Amino acid sequence: MKFLVINGPNLNLLGTREPSIYGAADYAALETLVRDTCAAEGIDVEIFQSNHEGAIVDEIQRGGRDGFSGIIINPAAYTHTSIAILDALKSVALPAVEVHISDPMTREEFRHISYAGMACVEKFVGMGIEGYRKAILFLKDYCS
Ligand code: DQA
Repeated sequence: MKFLVINGPNLNLLGTREPSIYGAADYAALETLVRDTCAAEGIDVEIFQSNHEGAIVDEIQRGGRDGFSGIIINPAAYTHTSIAILDALKSVALPAVEVHISDPMTREEFRHISYAGMACVEKFVGMGIEGYRKAILFLKDYCS
């Protein structure tokens, strides 16, 4: 089993970015949690982060070509705007799980729509970086 974890814009600034919303854990801690969880579960993983919408679309397309079992994605602000990311997720025949560190539904109204979520089989929100662990465990079960 091989998962592709994709993180969108500004998530590279975790730890210093609005810690009252996103917590104190930095991006390196998120990567460590993902790698350690996957290693413990016997899953191969690649992690990708970009601040650019087209780069995220390219990475989803690569995921569809390169033998991945599933995608875990936090599109960050592109969640609420990007039909291109929705279309890319729908274009690859892979199960995808949406993760958000905060819970967008409890925040500003413009965060209440998730285009990417329309192509995802499950979502984990408002759990901090722990949501990534839940997503990995869910996707492992889903793919088994
Ligand atoms: C986020 C929530 C989005 O609304 C926001 O634009 C982000 C991060 C989250 O993980 O809580 O950048 O995806």
